[in-house]
Amino acid sequence: MSLVEQDTRVETFFILHNLHLPRLMTQFSEMLFKRHSIRRYTQQPIPADDVKTILQAALLAPTSKSSRSWQFIVVENREDLEALAKLKPMGAHPIAKATMAVVVVSDPEKSEAYIEDATVAATYMQLQAEDLGIGSCWIQVRGRFDANNEPSEDYVQHLLDIPPYLKVECVITFGYKDETRRPVDPDKLQWEKVHIGKYTKQ
Ligand SMILES: Cc1cc2nc3c(=O)[nH]c(=O)nc-3n(C[C@H](O)[C@H](O)[C@H](O)COP(=O)(O)O)c2cc1C
Repeated sequence: MSLVEQDTRVETFFILHNLHLPRLMTQFSEMLFKRHSIRRYTQQPIPADDVKTILQAALLAPTSKSSRSWQFIVVENREDLEALAKLKPMGAHPIAKATMAVVVVSDPEKSEAYIEDATVAATYMQLQAEDLGIGSCWIQVRGRFDANNEPSEDYVQHLLDIPPYLKVECVITFGYKDETRRPVDPDKLQWEKVHIGKYTKQ
């Protein structure tokens, strides 16, 4: 099904249920199909207002018991970005050429759901960036190891003076897109992963 057909189906659903179709919601759904991890960035700087909007999204993210157990370290200095890209031997290279990276950390003392809190905030930033036309990529830190087989978390904490009690979840890279990715084909969505009412064995 094409994006247009999908859109029409959603519109029909809203009309049949006598609901006003919120235009923003349609745009949001479209954005979800178009969003992809972006690992190549142009040199174009991100306007300060957009940086603020991205960080604002993180601060707006829901947290368990409203604990706001997270904190965010914004890295824009090229030397630090290049050093951060060495947090693990594979999969961290987008950081080196990113315009900006945000390190997402959270405090287990503030919430037993500190990992989830950090994860949701990271996702909010990625979606906000996409809405602004800015590409992003999640770089996993938790559970990963650097080239010396030391935890990537220790590497990042040491590099950016992060106190050890703050657990490092991920680094999110940001920058204007220097690669084009096709939108997701709606026919490729794994609807078999969705179970209605009760779990059904496949
Ligand atoms: C928890 C998590 C960890 C990820 N870790 C990395 C990573 O370390 N390096 C990387 O380049 N991409 C990483 N990604 C991005 C995924 O590779 C990407 O989301 C996936 O391939 C699907 O592609 P898409 O984002 O374009 O839909 C991660 C994504 C998630 C959600």
